Amino acid sequence: MAEGRENWGTKLGLILAMAGNAIGLGNFWRFPYQAAKNGGGAFMIPYFAALIILGIPIMYVEWMQGRYGGKYGHGTVGCMVYLQSKERTSHTTAAILGSLVGMLVFSVVSLVNAYYTQIIGWTLGYSYLSLTGGYMDKAKSTGEIFVNYIQTPGLSITFWVIALFLLGLALTRGVQKGIEAWAKVMMPSLYVLGFILIIRALTLGTPVNPDWSPLKGLDYLWSPHWNELSWQSALAAAGQIFFTLSLGMGIIQNYASYLKPDDDIVLSATATVFLNEFAEVILGGSIAIPIAYTFLGTDGIKSGVGLSFIALPNVFRMMPAGQIFGAFWFLILFFAGFTSAIAMYNYLIALLEEDLNIPRRVGSWLIFALYIIIGLPVALEPVLTKTAELVFLTELDNWVGSYFLVVVGLLEVFVVGWLFGEKKSLEEVNRGSYWKISSAFFNIMIKWVTPLAIAILLVFSTRSYIK
Ligand code: PHE
Repeated sequence: MAEGRENWGTKLGLILAMAGNAIGLGNFWRFPYQAAKNGGGAFMIPYFAALIILGIPIMYVEWMQGRYGGKYGHGTVGCMVYLQSKERTSHTTAAILGSLVGMLVFSVVSLVNAYYTQIIGWTLGYSYLSLTGGYMDKAKSTGEIFVNYIQTPGLSITFWVIALFLLGLALTRGVQKGIEAWAKVMMPSLYVLGFILIIRALTLGTPVNPDWSPLKGLDYLWSPHWNELSWQSALAAAGQIFFTLSLGMGIIQNYASYLKPDDDIVLSATATVFLNEFAEVILGGSIAIPIAYTFLGTDGIKSGVGLSFIALPNVFRMMPAGQIFGAFWFLILFFAGFTSAIAMYNYLIALLEEDLNIPRRVGSWLIFALYIIIGLPVALEPVLTKTAELVFLTELDNWVGSYFLVVVGLLEVFVVGWLFGEKKSLEEVNRGSYWKISSAFFNIMIKWVTPLAIAILLVFSTRSYIK
């Protein structure tokens, strides 16, 4: 273990922090509209296939890389450098490869945050608007209210900076007192609010149109539509798996690097996947979609990115006690986004701390400044252009939030499957693990099926970007 590195305080704290890392805006903001946009039941088939072929194997790989790399510094970079140097090739190759991967991951994480923290700001702002009745006035459409929100710096930029400030503050306190402490409060709250909203969603009846009901909304998601399956829905599903499980970002490795050398990996990684999927398909899928369907029919659930911020506020103002339920919804989004952003923020601080010897307190505010600088173009676009097109945000989400995660994922399985090799990998991943990974799983999945599936995915998605 590298000197002076913190460890997780408790097993529960670790699992909640890892769940907090994975459960994010991806589960509540992105999943419902991706599923709705890509055919509902047609999306769920490739979604579960991608979970098994990509999500679970890469999750094990990342936990293993992280705990292993923790001995030499931090997650991905530490692991890659070490694998290359001491065990295979010369130190120079190692340093170059390690730095390249490091730079790629640093850029991916920073750029994702250019828009991710923005949306966290919106969720905080909308929690406030819910409590103060800010979107209840029916004279204006919720679409107009949202556009006004993102075009008014006094609202959008203020809440964004408050959210960033809270993140910076949490992270000056380190792993146990910062990350773990916030996860222990926010994650259970998220589940409790989620359950309240599911009960509310499923008991709405048919207030607007006898053909629109919560169960019909659920049916849209859960009945398989084989004939609507397409490459596009398969790509969207795979991208969503990477995004929601926080894969290909170095952040799972970063959290796993605070494990002790023989802490369990397989069971804990499986628990993280399970908690995330529960929060995604059960909580994420059974709140927004049934609520929007009950009041607005198919138009409501197909409203894309605006589902959370435009369609749902429109529903909240139609239903009794909507202000309270609205506040619950946006607080769920805020807690989810915040505990994921903490993970990304901590990874960047760890890089500064461990590679450049910058103390955590200083690093924390340097990253704050970095986030402001790279986030400003996204924040100012609607203010300056007076449009609501959010071109920067959409492009970043397409390229960085989906495409580059997959590229990093491929590098990772390649390093573990082909460079690290079966014997060391199995020894590393199984040490201290309650469940063990078999040699067949390693040789079939990690060496072949997972990387080939990613490669096919990259070829098809590159083609669809070029077209
Ligand atoms: N997994 C988290 C989420 O679902 C965090 C994350 C965001 C991971 C962006 C990758 C990219 O929101």
